[in-house]
Amino acid sequence: MNILEIIEKKKVDDILTKEEIEYFVENYTNGNITDYQAAALIMAICINGMTQDEILDLTMAMANSGDILDLSDISENIVDKHSTGGVGDKITLIVAPIIAALGIPVAKMSGRGLGITGGTADKLESIPGYNINIGIDEFKQNIKDIGISLIAQTLNLAPADKKIYALRDTISCTNSTPLIASSIMSKKIASGAGSIVLDVTCGSGAFMNTKEEARKLAKLMALIGKLANRETICVLTDMNEPLGYSVGNSLEVVEAIHALKGNMAEDVKDVVLNMCIQMMNVSGLYPNPLENKYKVMEVIENGKAFEKFKELVKRQGGDVSYIENPEKFEKAPIIMPVLSDDFGFVEKLDAGKVGKAGLELGIGRKKKDDSIDYRVGLIFDKKIGDEVKIGDVLAYVHAASPEKAIECVEAIKEAYTIGNRKISKENIIEII
Ligand code: URA
Repeated sequence: MNILEIIEKKKVDDILTKEEIEYFVENYTNGNITDYQAAALIMAICINGMTQDEILDLTMAMANSGDILDLSDISENIVDKHSTGGVGDKITLIVAPIIAALGIPVAKMSGRGLGITGGTADKLESIPGYNINIGIDEFKQNIKDIGISLIAQTLNLAPADKKIYALRDTISCTNSTPLIASSIMSKKIASGAGSIVLDVTCGSGAFMNTKEEARKLAKLMALIGKLANRETICVLTDMNEPLGYSVGNSLEVVEAIHALKGNMAEDVKDVVLNMCIQMMNVSGLYPNPLENKYKVMEVIENGKAFEKFKELVKRQGGDVSYIENPEKFEKAPIIMPVLSDDFGFVEKLDAGKVGKAGLELGIGRKKKDDSIDYRVGLIFDKKIGDEVKIGDVLAYVHAASPEKAIECVEAIKEAYTIGNRKISKENIIEII
């Protein structure tokens, strides 16, 4: 077998065998296949797609490229969650401590930013001292001791996905259903939780732009989960508008801190509640689904969710004083308002355009080894449905330089559509 034959087959839209897929995954992971050869194959997959069997084989080959954690000695009820990615998506930072505060163990391996979408691993790293690169023993010990651990993909878990994920990000191969499904599910299978709740985002700021595409991805991941013996539920959520009022690494951590104290934007609240309710359902620990919403609100109101977040940050080496006093997070040197030239109602705030503007500010990476600026980002004052007058502040740009700020202000103006209709939007599309 050789990689050129495999690339050739996918180039002409032929079906790869299990052995060919395993050969590629194994040899790319151990360095025998070069980045440019892998890039060619990934691009061919992105263009020509894969059959269901090929996707299953790719998922299992990536899951088996490293260790598969067995957490059953800790608990049978461990739950994991994952988002297919979005702009302003800080849901993990809020949901994970809530779920742990409810007594359901959370073991989660998060990704870095991909394309225009942010990554929880980057957001966590914006907390001074927080170590996302702990070893397996410490990961397990944290779950045992405090019921939660949030880490990056640094353990020997799905290392093939780690390499392919970083490569996809730099060759414009992020929005491919087979690649997203296999990437997410290989990580989920490897990290050991018995049940998984997936937030499948849909809209201009997501990889799936239409509901049909999102549904197809959700059904595929639910099927992979079932075959791998993991109960898997998908919540389809809107990503046409950025989620919440902030976009940017430390800015989103600050929003998550406020959310854990009960101050949540409506769209964030909808997604948080729905994700928590599904995670409680699949955990097997909360048999009365009608009570779930109240239990979630209870641990927010009595401060237990916030305390759990502090416990997590402390346990993983982070400086808790930042969580207690979020104003300590270093601010970008330039904060510039985006003023409205129009009046009426916000009809659209294009998450895709916001994501691209954010990438230019330095929120994410354009190249594999780019460093990111944790301070920069956007805070939105006006979102869909809000009334606007001429001269009102629509948003604030947090930038590293005046040039970057001016460029971003123009891009954000372009992202807004102001008209005369007061639109209400659906945050939760459906549960699969
Ligand atoms: N999240 C992942 O882990 N992988 C993807 O491909 C997209 C989102």
